[in-house]
Amino acid sequence: MAPSTPVLPTNEQTLRASFVRDEDERPKVAYNHFSRDIPVISLAGIDDDAAGGKRAEIRRKIVEACEDWGIFQVVDHGVDAGLISDMTRLAKEFFALTPEEKLLFDMSGGKKGGFIVSSHLQGEAVQDWREIVTYFSYPLRARDYSRWPDKPEGWRSVVESYSEKLMDLACKLLEVLSEAMGLDKEALTEACVDMDQKVVVNYYPKCPQPDLTLGLKRHTDPGTITLLLQDQVGGLQATKDGGKTWITVQPVEGAFVVNLGDHGHFLSNGRFKNADHQAVVNSNCSRLSIATFQNPAPEAIVYPLAVREGEKPILEEPMTFGEMYRRKMSRDLELAKLKKLAK
Ligand code: SIN
Ligand code: FE2
Repeated sequence: MAPSTPVLPTNEQTLRASFVRDEDERPKVAYNHFSRDIPVISLAGIDDDAAGGKRAEIRRKIVEACEDWGIFQVVDHGVDAGLISDMTRLAKEFFALTPEEKLLFDMSGGKKGGFIVSSHLQGEAVQDWREIVTYFSYPLRARDYSRWPDKPEGWRSVVESYSEKLMDLACKLLEVLSEAMGLDKEALTEACVDMDQKVVVNYYPKCPQPDLTLGLKRHTDPGTITLLLQDQVGGLQATKDGGKTWITVQPVEGAFVVNLGDHGHFLSNGRFKNADHQAVVNSNCSRLSIATFQNPAPEAIVYPLAVREGEKPILEEPMTFGEMYRRKMSRDLELAKLKKLAK
């Protein structure tokens, strides 16, 4: 098989060199060695905002999790279980299509949305072990249906409903996060101007040597919050000490993992962590996760909103989210280039 063939070489016994990570980046904890450190928070009663009511309790738990990890899981979130199972089933069916069918929506070359194999992403020093399908779902004018895979049957309409329900859930969470920062409940959605949403479905095939590689390298998400649905396999890992120790997030059936991105972190003036995370793979089974990124509009201003008494803003000057994103990506690209040169 030529190295450029757009599928991951899962039938080989040893991992191709392009996927092998430096020793310090390799997984330190097994994909199924689960930790319960990340709180699982029930959102039942979130609208009960009487003094001492459920909302206050939920807010308190979210604050604790965000100050600590920048990650928590939510259950009783109101997204229909049937919709979640349709989304998961159809996503699995999509990845089971032939490479030729998936590549009808090939997004290499910078196209907005579609399918790609990580080994075809540009500028990576080492490749991630995953396939992806991406939908740009909000604002509505960003929806280019010609880039939305229409297979398997019914997939497009399920993605539409899923995007809408996750937008509702994200707005609810942003309200509570705003209050948690001591702001009006609309403050975070207003800071996003016209919120963007992107859905990325990740498929991590079985891997011949999972100890040498990552499904998705360590990173923080750039946006405000991310809602991740994962199957029961396990593989999402988080760290809060700069990568010295890692934990594997325990999969919880029907839950969403919520993590704060750089934008959320900056708005809170650094009080809430931008979760540092990665995905590991395994040799026993494939894994599916669906990440819904809630991002500010490119022109939205990134600057702390919640500067508490005695604190200084952690950013020297305001910048647009577009600029923040560009700087983050070019820094990553520079690092990747340096790594390549060092080999
Ligand atoms: C992500 O960080 O976008 C995905 C992580 C995962 O698949 O667990
Ligand atoms: Fe992420």
